[in-house]
Order: sequence, then structure tokens, then C-alpha cells
Amino acid sequence: MDCEPGEVAALGTNGMDTATSIDGQIKIDSVKGVSVYIEKLNKSFGSHHVLKDIDLEIRSGETFSIIGPSGTGKSILLRHIIRLETPDSGQIYINGEPIFVDGNPLPQPFRSSMVFQSSALFNSLTVGENVGLWLREHRICPENRIRGIITEKLAIVGLEGKEGLRTSELSGGMKKRVAIARSLAMDPDLVLYDEPTAELDPITTDELAETIVSLRKKTGNTTIIVTHDLNFALYLSDRIAMMYDGEIIETGTPEEIRGSSNPIVQRFIRTTTKGIQGV
Ligand SMILES: Nc1ncnc2c1ncn2[C@@H]1O[C@H](COP(=O)(O)OP(=O)(O)OP(=O)(O)O)[C@@H](O)[C@H]1O
Ligand SMILES: [Mg+2]
Repeated sequence: MDCEPGEVAALGTNGMDTATSIDGQIKIDSVKGVSVYIEKLNKSFGSHHVLKDIDLEIRSGETFSIIGPSGTGKSILLRHIIRLETPDSGQIYINGEPIFVDGNPLPQPFRSSMVFQSSALFNSLTVGENVGLWLREHRICPENRIRGIITEKLAIVGLEGKEGLRTSELSGGMKKRVAIARSLAMDPDLVLYDEPTAELDPITTDELAETIVSLRKKTGNTTIIVTHDLNFALYLSDRIAMMYDGEIIETGTPEEIRGSSNPIVQRFIRTTTKGIQGV
């Protein structure tokens, strides 16, 4: 369905979902996957070199996971892709177009959203208000359509009928699911998840995996997931990259990652708390 014209949007910074939308007419039901090409990306904080010459290619419509131990730069890499951080050197191309110029982020002709590690919901708002925030702020659709989208996205994450709850009344896992519904509200072309399963029980984790797989099939969007949950990554990813100490040390299909001869990858597979058993 076509919606009202919107403006280039950045829905807050610092822990909020960010979204970019097309100048002029926005068709929120017309999702297109985008390709992401990261070239020689470097980022330091003071003397700490966090991202070291990162090269990575994520194809349009791919479900791509980034795994790796704590503190290796996974979240910082995602924050560059949605332009909340700017690199010291290197570039990211989305659909072949650079997203930074002279160290500044450029507006982009596609929609992206991120589910932050911390969920980052507004506690003063209800569940429904959180999910509909971006659509209302940018007056993208008539109010009755926005209410329909909220209902639809909450159903996708198994929270149908929970619009009226305060976020302070939710468990950690429910908050995560609201954050996911909120990120889906704008039908993103590119959706990034930072540790989506961190506070979910195993059943909800399985449901989320199915949700991400079916969304990809239905919409063709590009999905990038940062996760410690190896089983989750192996189950739903087309390809996986392993980060270690600011570098990408292996990239491949789930089969290739499982069979990697790199000792660091093998150690991560063996010692990850959920292990590889049962996959
Ligand atoms: N704003 C910042 N200022 C200084 N250092 C930072 C900043 N943001 C991140 N870092 C450092 O960069 C490194 C990578 O952080 P990042 O959050 O990307 O790790 P991560 O791989 O996502 O870890 P985790 O799995 O624990 O979430 C860490 O050592 C962190 O302390
Ligand atoms: Mg992180």
C-alpha cells in the first residue's frame, strides 16, 4: 500500500532504532534487499584499534551472521552500517553507493533498522506506542493503517493484543520482542539485530529464528545478525563471518564454518556455551 510522502528520517540516535526512508513517496510494503560491501574499515577509540581493515561483502537478500567473542567489535561494526559511527578510514557501500563522504554519513535511499543489544524502548510509552513511533513521527500512514501495522508486527513476534502494556511491565525477552516489532514497523530493506536471542528462552528463540527466515522469504530483505548463539546462526544464516580481536578471521556457509580448520573458529565452536550439539 502507498503511504503519504515522508522525509529522510533518523529515528533518534544513541541506542534508538535508526531509519532512513526515501525522499518523497514511501511505499512501506515494497521492501527491497540491499547489498552491503565493507572495504578496509578501521576504527579506533583513543589507542584502542577496535576495527582492523574489515572487508566483508553481504549480498542482497542474504541472512548474514557475525559471531565472535565479547569485545571483538561486532556491535561497533553494526553501528557503522547504520551510520551511528563513522570510520577513521575505509568505506561501506550499500547497493554500490558509499555511505560516508569526508567522514560524514550520507542520507540513503532505503530503509534500515536495528534492534539494539539493550532493546532501547521508551519506558514512558506503551508497547503499541513504541512500535508505532517511527510511523507516527513521520506521518507515513493514516492512523488506522498505523494501528493495523502495530497489530500485525506484534503478532509476528507473538505479542498479539499487548499494545496497551507499559514497557516497565515486560520481561527482558518481551522487551526484545517489542524492539523487534518496532524495527519491523517500517518494513526495512536492511535489518540488523544485535544479540537478538540474548534474553529469550529456547522456545521464543526458535520462534524468532522462524520469524526471521519467513520474513526474509516474504520480503527479500537483507538481514545482518550479531550473535553469540552459534546454533541460531548456523540454523538461519546463508553465510557467517567470525570476528576476533577486530578482524574478520573466517567467512563461509554454516557448513564451511563448522568445518573450518582455523583453530580460533574451532575453539569458539567447542567452547560456546550452547555448543554445536543437536545441530
Ligand atoms: N564509544 C566507545 N569508546 C571507547 N571504546 C569503545 C566504545 N564503544 C566500544 N568500545 C570498545 O570497542 C570494543 C568493541 O566493542 P563492541 O561493543 O563492538 O564489542 P562486541 O563484540 O559487540 O562485544 P559483546 O559481544 O560483549 O557485545 C570494546 O573493547 C569496547 O570497550
Ligand atoms: Mg555487542
